Amino acid sequence: MPSVLQLVTTAAQLREALEPLRRAGRKIGLVPTMGALHEGHISLVRAAKAQCDATVVTIFVNPSQFGQGEDLAKYPRTLEADLAKLAACGADLVLAPASDDVYRPGHTTWVEVGAVAERLEGKFRPGHFRGVATIVLKLFNMSRAEVAFFGQKDYQQALVIQQMVEDLNVPVEVRICPIVREADGLAMSSRNAYLGPAARARATVLWKSLELAQELVGRGERNALAVLEPMRQMIGAAGAQGAAGEVRVDYVALVDPQTLEPVCEIRGRTLAVLAVWIGKTRLIDNCFLNPDEP
Ligand code: PAJ
Repeated sequence: MPSVLQLVTTAAQLREALEPLRRAGRKIGLVPTMGALHEGHISLVRAAKAQCDATVVTIFVNPSQFGQGEDLAKYPRTLEADLAKLAACGADLVLAPASDDVYRPGHTTWVEVGAVAERLEGKFRPGHFRGVATIVLKLFNMSRAEVAFFGQKDYQQALVIQQMVEDLNVPVEVRICPIVREADGLAMSSRNAYLGPAARARATVLWKSLELAQELVGRGERNALAVLEPMRQMIGAAGAQGAAGEVRVDYVALVDPQTLEPVCEIRGRTLAVLAVWIGKTRLIDNCFLNPDEP
């Protein structure tokens, strides 16, 4: 059914817009985003459209998930272009609220996230997942969506949200969708816009190192260090002289996909996951290693 994209800017307007759909028993799908939309986001909208009756996309650069000194101020904001993309792919509703409508003066309640949020990203971005979980729970409550769509690109984020949904009996089903990549393998990200041409070329090392891990495991390697060392070497070799050319690893790890605890041996499905600075831009990526598959 072709639809016209409707833009709302407050939770009250969203509730009003969704009321008739809810009354008609329509299944509502939610795609939370921070905007600067690319094909990765659009793939989530397509999944929501295919699996639900009405698709709500939220665009909100959530201040509470950015740490001191992070890129909140410079995060790309491209609402007009985002709306055009959402209209083209057939989203039904967009919620793009102002920050003070989301966090009213006197807001004091936060979701306390557990162990899965403390590893990997949690170590380098303290408080990040507390901000993510809180905004996502607010968006779940505002939309009362039955299904919510997240990308594997932010695997740990999806895991933290799944854990929250289970622990707090949130009546929503979380679905995780595959990573969409550029032709050269770089995972699409709103932050890729920060990369100048030289940094953009260097950034391909994230995916190349993940491919190397897949190749080594495919050839029978089961020792985690024997996979991690060549990955680290490859990433280290991608850097250049000077701060702008610096390539610096926050973490490269092989972890259990449920607990995110590091593994020593690659037995069963394992997640290879990394966070790397390319100059002043911090990028993350991941992929599964499946030792049992031929
Ligand atoms: P944002 O970075 O805008 O991402 C929104 C959703 O798009 C997330 O679920 C993310 O995993 C997914 N996504 C991003 N790049 C992708 C790619 N290349 N392929 C597939 N999916 C991709 O993640 C956030 O916003 C925020 O933390 C949010 C959940 C909206 C809470 O503020």
